[in-house]
Parts: sequence; structure tokens; C-alpha cells
Amino acid sequence: MRLNIAIDGPVGAGKSTISDAVAARLGILHLDTGAMYRALGLTALRKGMDPQDEERIIALCRELDVSVRHEADGQHTLVRGEDVTGLIRTPEVSMAASTVSRYAEVRKEMVRIQQQLAAETDMLVDGRDICTTVLPNATAKIYLTADAEERARRRFLQMKEKGEEVPFEQVLEELKKRDQQDMNRAVEPLRQAPDAVLVDTTHLSFEETVDAILRIVEEKRHG
Ligand code: DC
Repeated sequence: MRLNIAIDGPVGAGKSTISDAVAARLGILHLDTGAMYRALGLTALRKGMDPQDEERIIALCRELDVSVRHEADGQHTLVRGEDVTGLIRTPEVSMAASTVSRYAEVRKEMVRIQQQLAAETDMLVDGRDICTTVLPNATAKIYLTADAEERARRRFLQMKEKGEEVPFEQVLEELKKRDQQDMNRAVEPLRQAPDAVLVDTTHLSFEETVDAILRIVEEKRHG
């Protein structure tokens, strides 16, 4: 049977790095769906489009041709064959991704691609609507979260490591703004699915979190 693991959660819960580690331990691929919304946000900004302009964003999404490639160093995200992996992690692109992800037509197209990929191979998929919409029949469903202050602190340290000196208050402010937008949009807002297991990482280390998720997966697989 196909092994599909769904992980949802808010900004900065550590979904990407945790998902990478869990997928590696299980020997399966990790699909980062946020990167696909980021690719659309980036392309809109590059074309000088306003992410709030729903009609133009939907038209852009239809002709975007976003794809992913899994390589030794992880997922690469492509737009019409151009590798945009290194360009989609800026705060501007984060906010644009959150805005364009509000549109039903955009979500429909992204979900279609994600479901197709997950049907082809065993996969761990992380995002906001994976447990609820993309993989409603996933083997294991996890809602990964942590206190907003702790998520902001981790993001702040991550950025500092990369040489990006942004004040902590600003990181916290942007995180709360994006939470607010992702949790309150009309279409598929971020929420914990009733059948998803909550993993609160506020007081867990990286390894403890990975182990907790692996235990949940084992339990769901073998009972
Ligand atoms: O996970 P991330 O921060 O890379 O995601 C960027 C934005 O994309 C996020 O603010 C909301 C949106 N998103 C979504 O709506 N659904 C997903 N499955 C993944 C991301």
C-alpha cells in the first residue's frame, strides 16, 4: 500500500526541516507544497503583478508550469524549467505566497499537482491543507505547531545564521500576520484536521520531534 504522510502547521513550526529528516529516516521523498505557492508568489512579483489582483494571479497560475525535482540536496522547485529554489525564501515572497494561496482557483490547481505526485510514489507531504484536502486518506496525519514566540525565535536564529539581521520584533510581527492570513482565509484555512495528531514542539528538541513523528507513523502503519 502507498505510504503517504501528511504534515500541516503554521509558519515556523519547523515543518520543512522536520519533514526532511522524517522522510529521510523512512527512505521516502518529501514534498514541500509551500514552495509551489512561493514559486507563484515570486513569479507574480517578478512580473510586477499585485498579489491581491485575484484575476491576474489565477491567469498566471494557469500558465505557470510549476514542477519539483528531488535531488540529493532536497527538493528543487522549477517554474517553466527555471530552478527558483534559491529565490523563494525572502520575506516578500513569503507574504506574496500567503496572499496568492487564498484564491480557490489557485488552490485547485496546486492540489491537483500535489495529489498526482503523491499518487506516484511513497511520500511525506507538508503544508497547510494536506491532512484536510490533499491527502484525506494519508497513512498518518500530523499537526505540527509551537507557541508563536518560540516559532519566531527559531526563525530569527535561522535568519541570523544566514547573515540576515532582522529585529526579533519584526520577525514575530510578520509571523503573526501570515498566521492570521493563513488561518482566516475563506478557502481551506489552516486548521488541525479532526483526525490529525497534534505535535507541539515548543518544549521538544529537533530529534525529539522527529522521534515523536516516527512513533506516530509506526503506530498508524502497524497498529
Ligand atoms: O510553508 P510555507 O511557509 O513555505 O508556505 C508559504 C505560504 O503558502 C503559506 O503562508 C501559506 C501557503 N500554503 C498553503 O496555503 N497551502 C499549503 N499546502 C502550503 C503553503
